[in-house]
Amino acid sequence: MTFSIALAGKGGTGKTTVAGMLIKYLVKMDKTPILAVDADSNANLNEVCGLEVTDTLGNAREEMKKGVVPSGMTKDIFMNMKLQQAVVEDEGFDLVVMGQPEGPGCYCAANTLLTGFLEKLTGNYPYIVMDNEAGMEHISRLTTSNVDVLLIVSDTSRRGLQAAIRINDLAKNLNIGVSKSYLIINQVKDAPSDAVLNMVKKNGLEIAGTIPEDNDVYEYDLNGRPTIEIPEDNQAVKAAFEIFDKIIP
Ligand SMILES: Nc1ncnc2c1ncn2[C@@H]1O[C@H](COP(=O)(O)OP(=O)(O)OP(=O)(O)O)[C@@H](O)[C@H]1O
Ligand SMILES: [Mg+2]
Repeated sequence: MTFSIALAGKGGTGKTTVAGMLIKYLVKMDKTPILAVDADSNANLNEVCGLEVTDTLGNAREEMKKGVVPSGMTKDIFMNMKLQQAVVEDEGFDLVVMGQPEGPGCYCAANTLLTGFLEKLTGNYPYIVMDNEAGMEHISRLTTSNVDVLLIVSDTSRRGLQAAIRINDLAKNLNIGVSKSYLIINQVKDAPSDAVLNMVKKNGLEIAGTIPEDNDVYEYDLNGRPTIEIPEDNQAVKAAFEIFDKIIP
């Protein structure tokens, strides 16, 4: 069985950072191999993981649509080869980047192959971590299986939390099959006010925990150093791991 965890939340709240910490945690707990999926068209989970990516699933789909299939190869074989090339392997986890969304025109054939490929691929991993862009369209479009845990990341701002509430409601309505969703409040300087906490609770969002604002987390990112290499005794990493201990089976 594959356990899938998806990240969502307003832009810049720390979805990719938390995804990186989660991958670090799962590797540490030997919950491997993990499939990391970057479903943000402005992909940067690879940087957080310290990996270089050249191929994306979107590129493979684009090439198949254009019909650039080498002679002597069927479309299916070519597409599957291109899709396989988009999976980057590392120790304990693999990463696949979805890439750019579809342009105009018909992608039906390519998408059928893509869906089949993803279904087979995801079956190989006990854990999937999916980073997303702000908004939920991608989760509904791209996941073939259900989401076991949706981690909604917000900062302490009212607007961030309102977005989190909206995303939670949307997830219910989109019929994605989210088994459980949690709110993670990230980049915390001052504890959120009671008014804010009440607003969250009243709207049925369960808070999994908070992660402090941390200078190292910021500096690593600024200097292009992979977030997953931040030492485990860092306060933000520690806080994230404590949250995962509670919510990841
Ligand atoms: N706990 C934290 N302490 C300090 N800086 C943080 C923390 N969490 C995230 N950041 C910083 O905030 C910025 C945005 O983080 P990140 O890219 O993870 O957000 P995102 O939600 O994935 O953004 P986007 O919506 O653009 O994909 C980065 O510079 C990151 O280093
Ligand atoms: Mg991101």
